[in-house]
Amino acid sequence: MRNDVEEDGLRSRARPRRNRKSAAVRELCRETRLDPGRFVLPLFLHEEAADTPIESLPGCTRWSLDGLEREVERARRLGVRSVVLFPKVPDAKKSSDGAECKNDDGLVPAAVRRLKAAFPDVTVMTDVALDPYSSDGHDGIVAADGRILNDETVAVLCEQALCQARAGADVVAPSDMMDGRVGAIRDALDGAGFQEVSILAYTAKYASAFYGPFRGALDSAPKSGDKKTYQMDPANGREAERELEADVAEGADIVMVKPAGPYLDVIHRLRARTHLPIAAYQVSGEYLMLEAAARSGWLDRRSAVLESLLGIHRAGADMIFTYHACEAAAWIAEDRAAGSDA
Ligand code: PBG
Repeated sequence: MRNDVEEDGLRSRARPRRNRKSAAVRELCRETRLDPGRFVLPLFLHEEAADTPIESLPGCTRWSLDGLEREVERARRLGVRSVVLFPKVPDAKKSSDGAECKNDDGLVPAAVRRLKAAFPDVTVMTDVALDPYSSDGHDGIVAADGRILNDETVAVLCEQALCQARAGADVVAPSDMMDGRVGAIRDALDGAGFQEVSILAYTAKYASAFYGPFRGALDSAPKSGDKKTYQMDPANGREAERELEADVAEGADIVMVKPAGPYLDVIHRLRARTHLPIAAYQVSGEYLMLEAAARSGWLDRRSAVLESLLGIHRAGADMIFTYHACEAAAWIAEDRAAGSDA
């Protein structure tokens, strides 16, 4: 049966456009806002003295320790106060058990000490996983028959996390997807007096094609096989909730969905099921798609990048890992100063 009041209301009274009539009104009605304080900048480093452009990731750089410090200073001035570090380890230091990952004199601990000394107010996050250190290019230890050994890997990850905590990391971020690693790392940290070190768990990390450029940047692609026995099947959403339950029970402080753009539904699902902050990682392939289109003149770089980040935030991510953090922060500041939402 026809509802006259409702239909009439919709036809003649409801005019959603009134809430869009000026930049100021749009600002009043805006439901989500991007803020540089929500961005985490991933940074690549190497043991060399020069800063080198990364071929597989145009616009990104492999930093020396000096360059790293300058880049963090630049990010900080733009309001980006959180970074995560990824090392490119020379082949000579890679091994099947990734032992270099727990070397207190290694590249990551040196970088953490340096950054925390220079910028105590910056949040320094470290990646917990074996792939940059593994001669097999896997996040875990590989058995003779090709299987990835779960519990043996978790034991090494705990030592890696402890090494990063000793250097002064504020947040350790296991990205390896082994079962039980969050609880084991929490116990290891607490047992060593690092109760204040946070764990950001890569909770729903999918076996994604969009990590390709990152693996090029670190020379960390698997030598054989793929990561499908530990990273999640892109077809699955319920399974992300199962991973969430485990990570929450094991003591994660922040949970992550990765990649971000193709998995907005997963961000939204987790948002409805946890009170923990949610992080999303706009990964190297997502960055590269935007850059490729912008560099070809096919998309407007600024508006496409900001819209992609806003979509991730609107879906429910509190914080976003993005290679565009500095540019986005600068654009947001410009827009604020101009009072525009162009
Ligand atoms: C590995 C790790 C990867 C990324 C972050 N940590 C790659 C992988 O799992 O193979 C990808 C990030 C990106 O693509 O930007 N521990």
